Amino acid sequence: MAKVYKIAVIKGDGIGPEIVDEAIKVLDALASVYDFDFRYNELLMGGAAYEITGDPLPPETIEGCKAADAVLFGAIGGEQWDNLPREKRPETGLLKLRSALELYANYRPVKVYEELVEASTLKPEVVSGVDLLVMRELTGGIYFGEPREKLEDKAYNTMVYTKAEVERIAHEAFKAAMKRDKRVCSVDKANVLEVSQFWREIVEEVAKAYPEVSLSHMYVDNAAMQLVRNPKQFDVILTGNIFGDILSDEASMISGSIGLLPSASVGGKVALYEPIHGSAPDIAGQGIANPIATIASAAMMLRYSFGEEEAADKIESAIEQVLKEGYRTRDIADYGAKEICSTTEIGSYIAEYVAKV
Ligand code: IPM
Ligand code: MN
Repeated sequence: MAKVYKIAVIKGDGIGPEIVDEAIKVLDALASVYDFDFRYNELLMGGAAYEITGDPLPPETIEGCKAADAVLFGAIGGEQWDNLPREKRPETGLLKLRSALELYANYRPVKVYEELVEASTLKPEVVSGVDLLVMRELTGGIYFGEPREKLEDKAYNTMVYTKAEVERIAHEAFKAAMKRDKRVCSVDKANVLEVSQFWREIVEEVAKAYPEVSLSHMYVDNAAMQLVRNPKQFDVILTGNIFGDILSDEASMISGSIGLLPSASVGGKVALYEPIHGSAPDIAGQGIANPIATIASAAMMLRYSFGEEEAADKIESAIEQVLKEGYRTRDIADYGAKEICSTTEIGSYIAEYVAKV
């Protein structure tokens, strides 16, 4: 009997629909190799949802996600919605969904494809072999802290973390490190911020339960520098919401293109998988977006939500194989391209290879 997996699909805005379609193409190719029955339920979020319902996160979307086994998400946002009040903005939809699904742990792995070491703006010897994980706290910190307000002559946000919030994300980081190189570097700004001093103390406490894992601390400004100076020094980077947002964009450049990196947001019953890049409205609809980050996110979904390790490996090998053979979207075309591909072409090659590798 086929294994049924219910996937809530949120395509979103900009390049979102194009890249998600390619991930679905690859999943469907896999379904015919294994006996999977993927049931997709398409839901609205972001600008696309605002245009139709007036709400960037309609209640049906939250319900639909909760009823699914996992959520596959593209990207949201666009200039046309930038001047809306915060409640109506596409980003607010995503932030509320993360909160509603209790997705407090955001895994952002950075791995360098050997075929693309030249694509990085950093020197090949600096990036070759990089394999790190940014573990970003996702439902707390300054993104969600109260009070927050924008007034005529001033505006403020609050960076707040509770003990329970730091504990659970720290456990997540140490557990992830146990399966990797057993090193956690906690990144904060404890030389200035009380909230970071507090974060550090709690991380130290949690570390006691993981004697095999070595823990270090780094200030975020130094971490930003170390990421481009010598990224290989890192295994797991544990950090809060805003520092993780910034550092993960920076870390993505190690790999050569932000279009390559997947992410998983976990914590509650249903996890969400999305590329770390945004909706890239400037290239939307042109068929040139790189769908690899989204396809790799679908692989993470198979591994973490469905326990389908082998199928996940297959997608990842297919991506590697396609890159090895020189098929490239434009963002990485300058490096070893045999054929410059459109979004759908690269998706089709990967789909073809999952059946072969
Ligand atoms: C990300 C994005 C989001 C964030 C935006 C779209 C709200 O930049 O997932 O990194 O800041 O978390
Ligand atoms: Mn971001």
